Amino acid sequence: MANIIVEVCSGTHCVMLGAMNIIDSVHSLDEIRHDMDQCCEVEVRAVPCMGLCKGGAQGPFVRVDGLLIKGGESDSVMAAIMDRCAQSQDT
Ligand code: FES
Repeated sequence: MANIIVEVCSGTHCVMLGAMNIIDSVHSLDEIRHDMDQCCEVEVRAVPCMGLCKGGAQGPFVRVDGLLIKGGESDSVMAAIMDRCAQSQDT
C-alpha cells in the first residue's frame, strides 16, 4: 500500500491563507478512503515555513509526495492526492 506524504506549510503566511483548512480536509480523507479502494495511506504533516512566501508567491504551499502546490486549496490538494494514489497503482 502506497504511503503518500502531504506536507502543509504551517507558517504564519500560509495559515492566514487557509493552511489549517487543508490539514482538516486531509484528515477527513478517512471518510472517502473507500473511494480509493484503501489503496493509499495518507500522512499529513504540518511543517514550518517553507521559505516560499518570501518572494511574494501565493500560499498556502503544500507538497504532495514532493510535488509543490502553490495557492493550495482543499480541492486541489485532494485532487493531487488522488492522482498520486492512482499513479502508485500503475507502478
Ligand atoms: S509561511 Fe508558508 S512558505 Fe512561508
